[in-house]
Amino acid sequence: MIRIWIVVLFSLPIFFVSPQQSFAAEESLAALADEGQRLAALLRVGRGVISNNQALINDPAIGDKGLSSTAFMKIVEEEYKALYGAAPLEGGLSPEQRSLTEAQLASMVEVMDENQDLINTEGMGFKGFIPAIFARLVNERFVEKQGTRARVKVTAPLHLVRNRKARPDDWENAVLTDKFANPDWPKGDAFYEEIAGTESTTFRMLIPEYYGESCLSCHGGPAGEVDVTGFPKEGGASGDLAGAISITLTE
Ligand code: HEC
Repeated sequence: MIRIWIVVLFSLPIFFVSPQQSFAAEESLAALADEGQRLAALLRVGRGVISNNQALINDPAIGDKGLSSTAFMKIVEEEYKALYGAAPLEGGLSPEQRSLTEAQLASMVEVMDENQDLINTEGMGFKGFIPAIFARLVNERFVEKQGTRARVKVTAPLHLVRNRKARPDDWENAVLTDKFANPDWPKGDAFYEEIAGTESTTFRMLIPEYYGESCLSCHGGPAGEVDVTGFPKEGGASGDLAGAISITLTE
């Protein structure tokens, strides 16, 4: 009995100090990963609303589509709430989360406002205002607002990239090819890490995206056939790795 107590007493300090120290670091990394998932989630919801409204947007018989930025944002908020239980700005957000979310929402509003003429052009069928373009425009606007503090980008493995702006950098390319393209990588799992620089630490996160049936009219087969947007199809299949949402947060 005495011996057990000695062991417990002597091991207590070590036991409590070391896990606590590493726990603090893990906790902040988890908070950053949570922030990254939030940014990706809102982007996906916005993109999804553009996707669900493609038939309407591309209907040549209708002028005003009723998709003003106000109407659009209302749907985005409702769908976000249905998925995550609270609207993007509801709930206990940290000041940082709030300001990033506000910037992302404002970016969506601007992109929708700037594309009203295109969306409402009567007599025009396919308008090219597709989810990928919407996402890229929103992300570009977001970077303008955030500077180096936060960046969201949709990228893809090099052989799949359509827009040069989406080309993966070295870090993204390594994660896409070494991790996400590996059959052993758990499907859907994000990869993230903190990278220490000389002046600041950067949090980088990549969240994989896969083709679903709705993507294949453009990214499916036969490979090389030109799709409605004028790009050669990639020959992808449902479930294949399509790309990734890349999040960079600099503290
Ligand atoms: C109507 C055709 C069309 C459909 C449907 C479509 N895409 Fe795309 N996709 C494009 C075009 C065009 C681009 C290039 C957009 C740009 O200029 O930024 C693109 C870009 C992308 C990119 C960014 C990297 C790059 O190549 O520039 C990813 C990732 C992507 N698509 C995945 C998907 C997924 C996943 C789906 C289904 C959920 C999908 N796409 C549905 C046409 C389409």
